[in-house]
Amino acid sequence: MSIAANQSTTATETDFLPLLGTDHLELYVGNAKQSAYYYQTAFGYRVTAYCGPETGVRDRASYVLEQGKIRLVLTTSLKPDSAVSDHVKKHGDGVKVLALWVDDARKSFEETTKRGAKAVQAPTILSDEHGEVVVASIETYGETIHTFVERKNYRGAFMPGFQAVDKPAISEPVGLKHVDHCVGNVGWGEMNQWVEFYENVLGFKLLLTFDDKDISTEYSALMSKVVSNGNGYVKFPINEPAEGKKKSQIEEYLDFYQGPGVQHIAVATDDILYTVAELKRRGVEFLHIPGTYYENLKDRVGDVQEDFEAIRNLNILVDRDEEGYLLQIFTKPVEDRPTLFYEIIQRRGAQSFGKGNFKALFESIEREQALRGNL
Ligand code: FE2
Repeated sequence: MSIAANQSTTATETDFLPLLGTDHLELYVGNAKQSAYYYQTAFGYRVTAYCGPETGVRDRASYVLEQGKIRLVLTTSLKPDSAVSDHVKKHGDGVKVLALWVDDARKSFEETTKRGAKAVQAPTILSDEHGEVVVASIETYGETIHTFVERKNYRGAFMPGFQAVDKPAISEPVGLKHVDHCVGNVGWGEMNQWVEFYENVLGFKLLLTFDDKDISTEYSALMSKVVSNGNGYVKFPINEPAEGKKKSQIEEYLDFYQGPGVQHIAVATDDILYTVAELKRRGVEFLHIPGTYYENLKDRVGDVQEDFEAIRNLNILVDRDEEGYLLQIFTKPVEDRPTLFYEIIQRRGAQSFGKGNFKALFESIEREQALRGNL
């Protein structure tokens, strides 16, 4: 692993794409009504807005789900011939939009497209009685897009076109706070070109590099680089497959997603013991980490505030870096295709990504891959 020297934008440089954070993540899914129920029941999200036939939208339905600062939008097509249904047919359920919250969507679009971003949607003003939102979109890896969302002049629920939903929650929140990072899988030999895209087109900085020696297990391998925006609010690790004795976990993803796309979304909690216990109780499935991982964990990570027994019982991973430690755990894919999954992360100072856990984690992923007949 190497840590890039220039981790943040210095005061003398101006950030041409200042980001306020992740605005929302939009998933295109086969049946948004049922997906919304899963995210509410299992993950404790609450539906806050909706659009569909009842609100005058004829070709799709979208549910906005919120927990903490996290906003997911689940969209399904009502027709066989549409961009949404084409996307679902090819990729299965998956992330279409990584939306970035900005102060000026027009400028964000202009600054990125003049640096080579391919336009998806020119700046568009959406308005209703609650004000206006400006959105503009550009392409990133695969069929994934970034939408810049400017909402400083909007007071309504989510966006014009959506109706606020004010129903009692189906289940209690589990303590999810915000999006920590979103990871993309790209094709063989494509990692560096996408890192350069984020550096040159969006003004991100390279934060960390993991080569295949850092993260190869006996069989499957991958390489990864992490890019971050100037204020560090938005971090995108980018993975590509590497040669190993058997099929890389990234290659399995690419086969089933039919190309590059979002591999996992890491969501932060302030109390991972509670969050994970609750998610497990509600039926969310996590990767199993063998007991041997915990045998010398105390020696590896030193003192932590959490109870080691609870960490072990919940199968949570711990890693320490120069700044502190982190606790993390990974769900199994949340669709039948082995594609998108979630990471639950609690940072206690550490700003890294759990390199010390890669081996145990990837061996666990390989066991799942083998069960699917894809190793
Ligand atoms: Fe992650």
